[in-house]
Amino acid sequence: MRQIVPNILKMKNKILLITNVIIVWGFLTSFETKFGQTTTPSYQNENSPSKRALQLLRKMSLEQKIGQMTQICFSTITLDGTKTLHISPDKFREAIVKWQVGSFLSGTGSAEQWIDFLTEVQRIALEETELKIPLLIGIDHVHGANYVDEGTILPHNLTLSCSFDTALAARLAEITAIETADLGLQWNFTPVLDVGKNPYWPRFYETFGEDPLVCAEMGASIIRAYQNSSSIEPYRLAACAKHFIGYSDPRNGFDRSSSEIPEQILYEIFVPPFQKAFQSGVKTVMINSGDLNGEPLHSSKRYLYDLLRNQLGFDGVVVTDIKDIQKIVEMHAGAATFKEAVLMSIQAGVDMYMACNSYDFISTMLELVKEGKISEDRINRSVYRILKLKYELGLFENPYPRKDRLMRIGSVAHKQIATDAARESIVLLKNENLLPLSTKTKNILVAGKAANSKHYLAGAWTYEWMGQPDESKHPKEMETILEALQKEFPNSKVEYVPNAEINLKLLEQKSRASDVIILTVGEKPYSEFKGNINNLLLDSQEQTMIETAAKAGKPIVLVLVEGRPRIISHLSSKAKAILFAGHPGFGGGRAIAEIIRGSVNPSGKLSFSYPCDVHSYEPYYRKFSSNYWRQYTKLCSEEFPFGHGLSYATFQYENLTISDTVMFSSDTLIASVTVRNLSDRDGKETVLWYIQDEVGSIVRPIKMLKGFEKRLIRASSAQVFHFQITAKELSFPDEKGRHLLEEGYFTLMVGNQKIRFKLLQ
Ligand code: BGC
Repeated sequence: MRQIVPNILKMKNKILLITNVIIVWGFLTSFETKFGQTTTPSYQNENSPSKRALQLLRKMSLEQKIGQMTQICFSTITLDGTKTLHISPDKFREAIVKWQVGSFLSGTGSAEQWIDFLTEVQRIALEETELKIPLLIGIDHVHGANYVDEGTILPHNLTLSCSFDTALAARLAEITAIETADLGLQWNFTPVLDVGKNPYWPRFYETFGEDPLVCAEMGASIIRAYQNSSSIEPYRLAACAKHFIGYSDPRNGFDRSSSEIPEQILYEIFVPPFQKAFQSGVKTVMINSGDLNGEPLHSSKRYLYDLLRNQLGFDGVVVTDIKDIQKIVEMHAGAATFKEAVLMSIQAGVDMYMACNSYDFISTMLELVKEGKISEDRINRSVYRILKLKYELGLFENPYPRKDRLMRIGSVAHKQIATDAARESIVLLKNENLLPLSTKTKNILVAGKAANSKHYLAGAWTYEWMGQPDESKHPKEMETILEALQKEFPNSKVEYVPNAEINLKLLEQKSRASDVIILTVGEKPYSEFKGNINNLLLDSQEQTMIETAAKAGKPIVLVLVEGRPRIISHLSSKAKAILFAGHPGFGGGRAIAEIIRGSVNPSGKLSFSYPCDVHSYEPYYRKFSSNYWRQYTKLCSEEFPFGHGLSYATFQYENLTISDTVMFSSDTLIASVTVRNLSDRDGKETVLWYIQDEVGSIVRPIKMLKGFEKRLIRASSAQVFHFQITAKELSFPDEKGRHLLEEGYFTLMVGNQKIRFKLLQ
């Protein structure tokens, strides 16, 4: 029996949307009435951002409005045309006086350079433009203040998500906010809410892994921390939920390409992180550069208007990705001319174009308005949203950066938290009685490209888009894995073989003389399309390096420093221990060394399924049929499953109970489980609550994560974890996003425990 439960949220969003329209209309009419009278206070003195935005809007010319809808890269107005922060006053005046541009993005430099640059930029905008509207400045601080020389470089999202710790994510976001806002940057293009279910996709490491709930919870925690931070007062920081939608699962795995995602899957897997972001008040959304089910997202009414605005009720600013209206023509062949593409994207609902290095958008928009193809009314709606955002961010009151809190940027305290984050996130995947390594180990051999590199630990989007290969640009006090191992094992000989991938003879010889070999393998940092690959297999030189070292018969620890899971299944038997580090940031080297020595007990768990084969990379929530055939074959399903992660403590799950085994749709069941630490070491355990819907009218996943919680469990003690089950945990969306709740049996799973219960309508 099936019942369609009214989608309360959808209705609520619709009501909200209608209310917003009424409020806007109300403001407009009251503004019109007041405007005729001389008593209207100036927009600077009004309190409500929406009211002030409307009043300002009323004073603006068409050209000024379109300028507000345009975002230009700083590289267009710097002296040397790069992201370095030296303004060319002429080029800048062309942008803001001639073209009346309202927003800029991207640069890199020291905190002082940022402040001087943005002070000058805002000063010219406030002194030399007619309306004195402050500029809105966007940045990709995707793992800490990564475009500030002194910034604290945090783990990339994929690594962080393995901590399963949303409070930690919020602490890191707070650090990012503190190191960003004082510089005059008010808009951070994060978090990435794309669900990482295709490890070929080169932005996999920017995601929070493959699970929609983990992506949603981590993302929401970060959004709230940015947007509600009191530590950055009087400034405010807007988050940006990106990239809407279906970006992360392209058929060919390449960046910015075509995804084919059935609507039902879209609603069940890809929408939830964005929906949660909207509930958390995210102020802006960036659009997916690719195409989905045949529609370039940037011109898609179906996804931008019907889904994003109408169904999900998002009412903030929608910004394009970089030059992506142009790409409707050049990349998607979705429009014959730029003009056509502009029209389509404006009709679909774009508010701001990240034009980057061209003003064609402005002239084209003017033409389209003059030809009557775009109404000024339509433009007003976007400009209203942009101005309202500027008011909400307090930009009119505090347009200038400040230097009096510079000591907070890259502070010791922030770096300590960055190191703690790496400690919480690194995953011990395999351990055949090798780790923790005794401090009495005499000879430790270290090899691999990442072993003595800060660049590999930090990853891409660090000082530069592709990361910073110049090691001297990274903080002096940042330790490489080698340096940290040398400190952690002061009584051992810790020796490094440079270029071991090529120096195979030397590697073999040194391996024989060692007691333990620590090999780093994985990937060199990359960004976006630069990371496109057509084979997920580990690089062949690194494979040879592992095989060569293994000839010595000494125990091997593999440390995976990579942006996505490169296949190691044919080699993993050669290693007695394996760690997944991803790109763990500033404290990565230290955390890895501490875990190897055992001064830190590892507690990360995989937020994605580590594939066993280049052709086989299904997420854990694969459909029932996928498992059915595995019973007849010996095919692997993954090398390490989602949620896998070892500890030096031993946890036992006991006594799973549930408040009732029958529930009605309005009931709440409470489940409890005891987790016992059987060892004499304190350890942290993430409890993952899954539900399996045993029979469904739409084929169900074999299980779905519905809750998670990480806690410290002291040695030889136990803790009870609780979980609430309501209709929300049991329902699923159909192809229109309507939530279905179906009678029948469900299985709740946690650790090795299971319990069945029945839903009755
Ligand atoms: C990326 C976005 C980023 C933007 C601005 C694009 O290439 O896809 O994620 O925010 O650049 O730097």
